[in-house]
Amino acid sequence: MMKAMAKYLVTGAAGFIGSSLVRALLDRGEEVRGIDNLATGRRENLTEVLKQMDFRQVDILDLDAMRQACEGVDYVLHQAAIPSVPKSVLDPLGSNRANADGTLSVLVAARDAKVKRVVYAASSSAYGDTPTLPKHEAMTPNPISPYAVAKLTGEYYMISFYRCYGLETVSLRYFNIFGPRQDPSSQYSGVLAKFSLQMLRGEQPTIFGDGEQSRDFNYIDNAVSANLLACSAPAAECAGRVFNIATARRATLNQTFELLKPLTGYTGTVKYGPERGGDIKHSLADITLAQKHLGYKPLVNFEEGLRRTVEWYRSEARAAGA
Ligand code: UD1
Repeated sequence: MMKAMAKYLVTGAAGFIGSSLVRALLDRGEEVRGIDNLATGRRENLTEVLKQMDFRQVDILDLDAMRQACEGVDYVLHQAAIPSVPKSVLDPLGSNRANADGTLSVLVAARDAKVKRVVYAASSSAYGDTPTLPKHEAMTPNPISPYAVAKLTGEYYMISFYRCYGLETVSLRYFNIFGPRQDPSSQYSGVLAKFSLQMLRGEQPTIFGDGEQSRDFNYIDNAVSANLLACSAPAAECAGRVFNIATARRATLNQTFELLKPLTGYTGTVKYGPERGGDIKHSLADITLAQKHLGYKPLVNFEEGLRRTVEWYRSEARAAGA
């Protein structure tokens, strides 16, 4: 049987999660358009797939360009963001523009182009420092950082566009996603990208705080599958709703450092520095809702994800050195 063709627009297509989504969609034979303003994304993340897609250097805040990008599109996977808690603490206006205003701009363009569904990269940071673990979607949000506020604002706009305009929207609250192509090079980079590269290079990593903070680290393939499921699930199951996307397990940074030692061959110690502003202590998800309504399940566990991630940074380093 012929599969009906669908057209996908990935915002933030040159970023870590966006470029992984692009590859997964192309592998499934879908038609893919991608946009990125290349603020944090890198064209190199798309090198070998650029020819198979329609890539445009577009800023989501440019409403005219966004409208054009949405033309003929069935599904928008909105990943474009400035995805950093500490950066938002330094520059709350910039974070709000990219993460909140940007999401509103995507929604207006998608609504006007009569897109079928918008799937949004929401953030577990919405839960903040509430003591209850695991976090479930019915809990009252308690954002701490400007990043968390902006991402949560985007979620509310998603729900509002479903309620007011009938645009099908699904928000995926990502817990800490990691894996190949996550940028390790900035001081704002995700901890696993930084630690993998530092430890492979034999450089001493720094833990901010006592290292007993914990995260529900989730490998990229699981987030990709959640997006595909959020496109195919019946509207009655998911439209206008919010879902945790995680593994329902957590690891402390101290444990993670120990796991990375044999994988990277690092034999040194870790340095402890001051706690980071805006940080939360513990994060762990209840994923019952996503399991029930999207059919989501984590396909790759933390240890296997770490192994694949370190392997990828190792082969990148080898390629760069060759
Ligand atoms: C947060 C959000 C996540 C969001 C992400 C975007 C939560 C629970 N998660 O992740 O949803 O998508 O921001 O960036 O709020 N650390 C070190 N050493 C380092 C770097 C980081 O110890 O060199 C520590 C941080 O202080 C933090 C932990 O590692 O305690 C994780 O930090 P990071 O990877 O930046 O992600 P979150 O801030 O947890």
